[in-house]
Amino acid sequence: MEVIQVEGGHRFTGEVRVEGAKNSALKLMAATIMAPGVTTLTNVPNIADVHVMGKVLKNIGAEIEVVNEHELRIDTSGVTSWETPYHLVAQMRASTAVLGPLLSRFGKAIVAMPGGCNIGARKIDMHILGLEALGVEFEVKHGNIHASAPHGLVGDTVTLNFASVGATENLMMASVFAKGVTTIDNAAREPEIVDLANLLNEMGAKISGAGSPVIEIEGVSELHPVTHRVVGDRIEAGTFLAMGALMGEPVTVRGFAPLHLGLVLKKFEQMGISLERGSDSCTVWRDRPLVPTDIQTLPFPGFPTDMQAQTMCLLALAKGSCVITENVFENRFMLASELQRMGADIVIEGHHAIVHGVDGFSGTQVRSPDLRGGAALVMAGLIADGVTTVSDIYHIDRGYEGFVEKLASLGARIRRVELPDETD
Ligand code: EPZ
Repeated sequence: MEVIQVEGGHRFTGEVRVEGAKNSALKLMAATIMAPGVTTLTNVPNIADVHVMGKVLKNIGAEIEVVNEHELRIDTSGVTSWETPYHLVAQMRASTAVLGPLLSRFGKAIVAMPGGCNIGARKIDMHILGLEALGVEFEVKHGNIHASAPHGLVGDTVTLNFASVGATENLMMASVFAKGVTTIDNAAREPEIVDLANLLNEMGAKISGAGSPVIEIEGVSELHPVTHRVVGDRIEAGTFLAMGALMGEPVTVRGFAPLHLGLVLKKFEQMGISLERGSDSCTVWRDRPLVPTDIQTLPFPGFPTDMQAQTMCLLALAKGSCVITENVFENRFMLASELQRMGADIVIEGHHAIVHGVDGFSGTQVRSPDLRGGAALVMAGLIADGVTTVSDIYHIDRGYEGFVEKLASLGARIRRVELPDETD
């Protein structure tokens, strides 16, 4: 079993560059289905989830040339199938992002029902309800979603119950060729939504309002392939900034827009953390104790749920108590019990985590509960007394490219180690 071992207490300072955003790249790859021909994506992160999305596209007939580890040439002219099998959707629920593109291209799609994952049920009822408003009919059988638009997709107004990222993306892509105009109300506003809308408009779509709560899509007849650079990964950046804030010495993170982490950086400043924002970088340092600060996760521009775990790690060492409220996922506090093994004092009450700051962490064996929780455990190991061994690190490899190498370049005493499998 492969683990990450990190020895706490070493100087952590320097510069690191982040990759393109995982939560944009996966959808941009799916969108190439709608533009037959060769689309080139640059600044693509070299991570497990991108490799899975590559398999999904190849499975329906696309050809992918890996120009280099951060540039893909995706040829979708040969896409003939509209079915995404369970084993690929089970590996990565973001595979459901092909639903909108397949409906746009073929007027039908068969996508395995995504399972939940350990942060929640991850339903897609809002995707389905919205697409039905555009004339799509659904039948779920044998674990597969059979979607079809027998009379073609027709634009309409769709109001989302919750500003769902995935539902907004699928609806935006399904509307590109729909007859007339589609309006998505209460749309998600994440920077990754804007990046997807930019790609689609570069391909010839007519989308306005991306980044605001109301997105309007005027149907067009076709899209053409383009070259597009994936937006920088604000969550990868926020993860390294949180680590620099924890350890105290200056850490500069490049390759992302600090505007995309607006509230996170404001909350960090309330927590006693110093920041210097650049146009595509941010430097962080800390020379005073961490101040307990209440956090509420919400859709963008609210505090991102994907930064909740990293921030919990910081607040667990603040001078006092505070409350973290998780409003986006129903089960995203699993980090707390692992941090408690390191000495944290956190009480979970439903959607609230009451965090009582302690003086320090003690290194031990811990298990990654999910992608961001795993990163947060390695972060805790940077400052913990002794060695912290983090297992189930496949979660981390799904979303962080060169995680160990990047932390080592900042001074962390960290390595990947193959341990004999635990025998029960
Ligand atoms: C995207 O997931 C991201 N994943 C998540 O990042 C991120 O946490 C999330 O957006 C919120 O920002 C990718 O982009 C691949 P949602 P998504 O639809 O689209 C519920 C990470 O760590 N919901 O905004 O699935 C849902 O269960 C990952 O990088 C429904 O109930 O998020 C969740 O509780 C984790 N019905 C909430 O809404 C639906 O039809 C938000 O989901 C859709 C969603």
